[in-house]
Amino acid sequence: MEIRFEKREQLKEKPDQSNLGFGKYITDYMFICDWSKDQGWHDARIVPEGPIEMDPACMVLHYAQETFEGLKAYRTKEGKIQLFRPEMNAKRMIRSNERLCMPGFPVEDFVEAVKAIVEVEKDWVPSEPDTSLYIRPYMFATESALGVHMASSYKFMIICSPVGAYYASGLDPVKIMVEDELVRAVAGGTGFTKCGGNYAGSIAGQVKAEKLGYEQVLWLDGNERRYVEEVGSMNIMFKIDGEIWTAPTEGTVLPGVTRDSMLHILKDWGYTVREERLAIDDLMRFAHEGKLEEVFGTGTAAVISPVGELRYKDDVVVINDNKTGELTQKLYDTLTGIQWGKIADDYNWTVEVC
Ligand code: COI
Repeated sequence: MEIRFEKREQLKEKPDQSNLGFGKYITDYMFICDWSKDQGWHDARIVPEGPIEMDPACMVLHYAQETFEGLKAYRTKEGKIQLFRPEMNAKRMIRSNERLCMPGFPVEDFVEAVKAIVEVEKDWVPSEPDTSLYIRPYMFATESALGVHMASSYKFMIICSPVGAYYASGLDPVKIMVEDELVRAVAGGTGFTKCGGNYAGSIAGQVKAEKLGYEQVLWLDGNERRYVEEVGSMNIMFKIDGEIWTAPTEGTVLPGVTRDSMLHILKDWGYTVREERLAIDDLMRFAHEGKLEEVFGTGTAAVISPVGELRYKDDVVVINDNKTGELTQKLYDTLTGIQWGKIADDYNWTVEVC
């Protein structure tokens, strides 16, 4: 793929690395590539980041044909910059796009584009502990039309943002509300994809949770509202009586890159991993019986996020005394150790950029 480069006149001022938060600052450049029925993917370019022109009839604004990904670039202590399993994001985006009838961006081109934008933005990759450059590839329909159909043109773009912790609480445990009324995904729907629509529909649950003082929502299955699935911005795992439980990715749950990495590590450490449906009633019962030892979310943005409290209807349980569990901490240290190049990457998961 040939990538044209357009230089920016004036670079933006870089933010203070000790207070980055999540997604507040966008870097100097963005990657864009266009797709049309006649030309396929063409005109790959890295240009100054800024507003793009859209027709008011642009299809994504009406029918939400949009998919996205999230990955990070990490600065190692030697000053090198590396990615974490970028091919998994590339492949997942192709699967999301298939479901939404959007063109696939080839895996090699996806990785090449990510490496190219990160190399251009290398001065934006922060070096403070627990910081990274969040990379957001996304695609959307650009055709101007009001009929519902597969569009004849799309844009694939990548923007980047230097980030710290996703949650304001950092690695302190978060409080999660189990949503017993609204649902996020149903069998045969788009739950397994990373499309904006999934997140749009989840905001009502998030607002409800926040009103009750909870940071995130744990979604139950859409058919029976009985089995635990995933949290708004991450997958979720439970340590029950020494075993690890997490929902299977059977169409309604996002196949997370961090989720997959954790399952590999946990199995290598000898844990029994149960990718099985777990009923919320059983989960709450385990908690009351003292068998629910740890709960943690996994995600690129959230990394490994301990859960200190779960609320289901009027039942509230506190997990591990609202403290980060031993296994959660060990997983966090191992994963981030590999990502920041502090410990050996025996899995060959990291990919050097520069
Ligand atoms: C990620 O973890 O990269 C995500 O895309 C979650 C996002 C909704 C913040």
